[in-house]
Amino acid sequence: MTGPHRDPSDRNDHVKTETPMHQDSAGTGVIGVVGAGTMGIGIAQCLAEAGHRVVAVDPEETALAGAPARLRAGIRLATMFRKAPGTVAMDQALEAVTWTTRLDDLASAWFVLDCAPERIPLKEKLFRELDDACPPRAVFATVTSAIPVNRLAAQTRRPGQVIGTHFMNPAPLKDTVEVIRGPQTTDATLDTTLGLLADLGKKGIVVADAPGFVSNRVLMLTVNEAATVVQQGTADPVAVDRIFQECFGHTMGPLATGDLIGLDTIVDTLYVLLECTGDQRFQPCEKLRQLVADGHLGRKSGQGFHRYPAPVNTVEAKAPPLDERRPSAQPEKATEKATENGGTSRDTV
Ligand SMILES: NC(=O)c1ccc[n+]([C@@H]2O[C@H](COP(=O)([O-])OP(=O)(O)OC[C@H]3O[C@@H](n4cnc5c(N)ncnc54)[C@H](O)[C@@H]3O)[C@@H](O)[C@H]2O)c1
Repeated sequence: MTGPHRDPSDRNDHVKTETPMHQDSAGTGVIGVVGAGTMGIGIAQCLAEAGHRVVAVDPEETALAGAPARLRAGIRLATMFRKAPGTVAMDQALEAVTWTTRLDDLASAWFVLDCAPERIPLKEKLFRELDDACPPRAVFATVTSAIPVNRLAAQTRRPGQVIGTHFMNPAPLKDTVEVIRGPQTTDATLDTTLGLLADLGKKGIVVADAPGFVSNRVLMLTVNEAATVVQQGTADPVAVDRIFQECFGHTMGPLATGDLIGLDTIVDTLYVLLECTGDQRFQPCEKLRQLVADGHLGRKSGQGFHRYPAPVNTVEAKAPPLDERRPSAQPEKATEKATENGGTSRDTV
């Protein structure tokens, strides 16, 4: 395994270059990825291709059953699109990832990435469980789209070792990660995290902690508003996306972006923003909620605002009922060209 690359020139200037306190000193520890969905598999691929040993945890047997094939497909695809090849061969990368339903298998993890669904109670519970299951020195990085890092850090006895790493989708093809420094995140945690990202060939842009950070505070409103435009009959999804592509030069329109992210994740993220800010602009519009209720989750189900050839690189779409997503019903508990899911042919729904 290669350890995190530690070239200070790859970091943000203000970051102290001190010895990372969290990496296993013998270089024998594993990196945990929790949640083997769209982001978890993509991030596991980045880690495995850079030579890290990965333990991927998902409570859903069905998610785990399809995960190795999705990882293989992801590596093939990245090989076609990426400029630089991974550090290790495909077979080696596939062997580097262990799949499990048990968080206890993270007992030797020095770094854990949370890629579980975007629901506050679910992630809060997960962070309490991770705190018990992982070594005290392990860093926890959340890939959350919008939940303030400090809210998750507060669930642990190691708030200084919790940070946000908002990877973009598809993770293997995106070079930049929005890194969220919580109010308690230490310099050493930030340094370790940026070092690991550099080892994956990625750079971090560090921002402060706030609901939705920079990216999704803006993007979620845009997707919601674009969906409202369709709902009100101003334009169909193809026309909406063409405006952004052909008039503004965007690589993808907001509705195709929503389809790539997953409309269930969009609705979940809007509810997180609504709960955390109280700002009614984040109330998901009827059109978005209806598509999710109908199981039209975007690329991962083969249909969202647009239609796609086949659901690829994902588990069979399975979304909890909308009632479970609303903040009040949770008692305990972004993008570029879409290439990974098999083409861009689209029929307006
Ligand atoms: N999809 C995107 O484009 C994107 C981009 C950036 C960040 N994110 C964020 O990444 C996270 C994961 O999103 P995704 O799109 O990969 O979701 P997904 O629905 O594709 O995958 C989530 C996975 O988590 C598993 N899971 C369910 N309950 C769990 C639990 N208690 N513990 C661990 N795993 C559990 C599910 O079985 C599923 O396999 C979310 O926080 C999301 O907001 C998503």
